[in-house]
Amino acid sequence: MTKPVTAYDAIILGAGGAGLMCAAIAGQRGKNILVIDHAAEPGKKILISGGGRCNFTNIHTAPDRFLSENRHFAKSALSRYTATDFVDLVNRHNIAWHEKTLGQLFCDGSAKQIVAMLLAECPENHVKLSLGMPISDVSHADGEYCVTCGDRTAKASSLVIATGGPSIPKMGATGFAYELGRKFGLKIVEPRPALVPLTLGGEETLFRSLSGVSAPVIASCGKTAFREAALFTHKGLSGPAILQISSYWQHGLPVTVNFLPDRAIGWLVDLKRAQPRMQLKKAIAECLPARLSETLIDRIALTGDLGNLADRKLEDAARRLADWRFMPNGTEGFAKAEVTAGGISTAGLSSKNMEARQMPGLYAIGEAVDVTGWLGGYNFQWAWASGYAAAQAL
Ligand code: FDA
Repeated sequence: MTKPVTAYDAIILGAGGAGLMCAAIAGQRGKNILVIDHAAEPGKKILISGGGRCNFTNIHTAPDRFLSENRHFAKSALSRYTATDFVDLVNRHNIAWHEKTLGQLFCDGSAKQIVAMLLAECPENHVKLSLGMPISDVSHADGEYCVTCGDRTAKASSLVIATGGPSIPKMGATGFAYELGRKFGLKIVEPRPALVPLTLGGEETLFRSLSGVSAPVIASCGKTAFREAALFTHKGLSGPAILQISSYWQHGLPVTVNFLPDRAIGWLVDLKRAQPRMQLKKAIAECLPARLSETLIDRIALTGDLGNLADRKLEDAARRLADWRFMPNGTEGFAKAEVTAGGISTAGLSSKNMEARQMPGLYAIGEAVDVTGWLGGYNFQWAWASGYAAAQAL
C-alpha cells in the first residue's frame, strides 16, 4: 500500500535560527509549514551561542560587516528586517538583555529564551515540527518538492534550505545544504572555516608556550583590521581579533599584529629622552603581559639602557612590536569554526526573497548561503533577516 503524502505550503529543512524565523513569519501569514530537522531539539546552535547567553544581534549591523562573493547581496534582506526589529521581538517576549561591547546584544538570562521565543512565535495550527529523524530523500517533480523522513513523505510547492553549514559537526552540523543546492543546479562557493582559531607551526611554535596569555591588539590581514583582544593558545592564535581576521585570511598570507595599538612609532625614542637609564626590557614589560613581553623581547634581540641604544634601533623595535608578522599554517578547521564562510552562491538567488532564480519554489537562507557575518551577533541577524525575507514569499 502506498504511504499517504502530507501536503504543506512549504517545507523548511533545518530548525536553526533561520529556519525557525522563516517558519514563524510564514505561519503568521497563514501558510502551512513543516519544519524538518534531524536533531532531536530545535535551535541547538542558538542554545550554545554567546556562552549560553546568545549574542542575538548587533546594533551596528550594516552590509559591510558581512563577507560574500557579492558584497551587495545581503543589503536588501538586512534592510527589511533590522536589528531593531529583532530587539522589538525580544522586548515583546519580556526577555531581558544587555549590550556587552561593540553593539553586541546578549540575553541577561539564557539563550533558551530565544529558542522558546521563536517556537512561541510559530502558530501551532500552521507550523509543524518534525525532529530527530534523518531526511532520506528530497525530490522535485511537477512543481512539487517531496521530502521523505523515515516512512513519512511530505510535499509542498516551496522548499527552504536552512540546514546551515558544516561548522561544529559534533553538534550535527552538515554540508547537506550544499548537496541539495548542487542537486538543484545551484553553484557552491568553496566552504571554509571562519571565525576560527589560527594555528602556528615552524619557528612560530615557540609562541604556543604563551598559551592563555591575551592582550588588546590590532590584527590585520590585507586591508582589513580588527581592534580587539588576541589570545595565544596551545595551537596558535585565537581571541576575538584573531577570530575576526581569520574570516579574511587565506593560506600563504601573513596576519599582522600590532601589540601596542596606542603607541606611536617614536614612543621608545621619546621615553629614551625622558628616562635614558630605563632598560628597554622594562619599558616594554610595562606595556604588555609579562610572558608576552619576554618572548617578544627575546625575538627582537635588543638589550640595554634606552640611553645606550640608537634612535633608529629603538624605532625598529617599536615598529616590530606594531607590525608583528605571523604566518599561520592553517586553522583549527570546521571542528572549531564558529561559522562557515562560502556556501550556496548568491549568484543564483534573489536578494529580495532568497528564491533560486532557475528553480521556482526553492529558497536558501541563513548560514547555508554565501553570506558570513563578523563576530558579535551579525550571523544571527543574517539568519533572522534572510529567514524573514524568504517567509514573505512562501
Ligand atoms: P543552524 O546551523 O543554526 O541550523 C541548521 C539546522 O539544520 C540545525 O538545527 C541542524 O541540526 C539542521 N541540519 C543540519 N544538517 C541537517 C540534515 N542533513 N538533515 C536535517 N537537518 C539538518 N552567531 C551570532 O550571531 N551570535 C553568537 O553568539 C554566536 N555564537 C556561536 C557560538 C558557537 C559555538 C557557534 C558554533 C556558532 C555561533 N554563532 C553565533 C553562529 C550562529 O550560531 C550561526 O550563524 C547560526 O546558528 C546559523 O543559523 P542557521 O539557522 O542558518 O543554521
